[in-house]
Amino acid sequence: MPTAVVTGANRGIGLEWVRQLLDKGWDVHAGYRTDEGGLSGTSAHHHQLDVTSKESVEAFAASLPDRVDLLVNNAGVADGRWRSIEDIDHEQVLKVLDINSVGPVRVTQALLSRLGGDKMSTIAMVSSLMGSVEDCISGKSYAYRASKSALNMFSTAMKNELRDANISVVILHPGWVQTDMGGPNATVTPLDSIAGMIQRVEEQTLEITGRFVQYDGEALPW
Ligand SMILES: NC(=O)c1ccc[n+]([C@@H]2O[C@H](COP(=O)([O-])OP(=O)(O)OC[C@H]3O[C@@H](n4cnc5c(N)ncnc54)[C@H](OP(=O)(O)O)[C@@H]3O)[C@@H](O)[C@H]2O)c1
Repeated sequence: MPTAVVTGANRGIGLEWVRQLLDKGWDVHAGYRTDEGGLSGTSAHHHQLDVTSKESVEAFAASLPDRVDLLVNNAGVADGRWRSIEDIDHEQVLKVLDINSVGPVRVTQALLSRLGGDKMSTIAMVSSLMGSVEDCISGKSYAYRASKSALNMFSTAMKNELRDANISVVILHPGWVQTDMGGPNATVTPLDSIAGMIQRVEEQTLEITGRFVQYDGEALPW
C-alpha cells in the first residue's frame, strides 16, 4: 500500500485529498494545525502539524513511516485583501510567506530521507494561478501572489536536486475551489479539483518534473 502525506488536511482541499487517496487504497498521514476537523471521520493517521514551526515539522516527520510515496504540500492561507499599496501590512506579509512559501520547504526538508531512493516519490506543491507573473493582470492580493510565486520558484529551483534523488515535483493550481478560502462563488467543487490533481500525480514522471499545471491538466504560464 503506497503512503501519502497531506498537510493542512482537516478541512477544504486538504481533507478532500485525504478522502480520495484513502478511497484509492493509499495509507494516508494527515497533518492538522489546530483541530482534527473532518479528519476524525476518516481512517487517515492524523498528527498535529504547524508548517511554520521547525519543532512541529520535525516531530511530524519522526511520526511517519520510513517510506513516503507522495507528499502533498497543501497547507496555505489567504492574505489581507488590502485595497491599496498603502494598506500592505508587512507583518502579515511575512506570516503569509512563512506559511505558503517556507512551510512547504520545511516539510520537504524534514521528509527528504523518506522520499525517492529505489522507487520514485512525488511532491505535489499546491500553488495557485495567482502565483503566475504572466497571469497577474489585476494586481492586488499582494502577499498571496508573492507567496505562491516564491513557492513556484522554490519548487523549480529544487527540481534537479530532487530528480537526482528520484523525486518528481508537480506544481498544481487546484482551480477556484469551493472551500473556506475559495468561498461559495467558486466554480470548481473539491471533488472535481482533487480528482483532477490526483490524475496529475498519477501521470507524473521524472521527465516532466517541475511542471506548473492546473487540476484538469492545462499547462499554466509562469
Ligand atoms: N480554494 C481555492 O480556490 C484555492 C485556489 C488556488 C490555490 N489554493 C490553495 O490550496 C490550498 C488549500 O486551500 P483551501 O481552499 O483548502 O483553504 P482552507 O479551506 O482555508 O484550508 C487551509 C488549510 O491550511 C491549513 N493551514 C493554514 N496554516 C497552516 C499552518 N501554519 N500549518 C499547517 N496547516 C495550516 C488550515 O488549517 P487550520 O484549519 O488550522 O486553519 C487548513 O487546513 C492552499 O495552499 C491554497 O493557497 C486554493
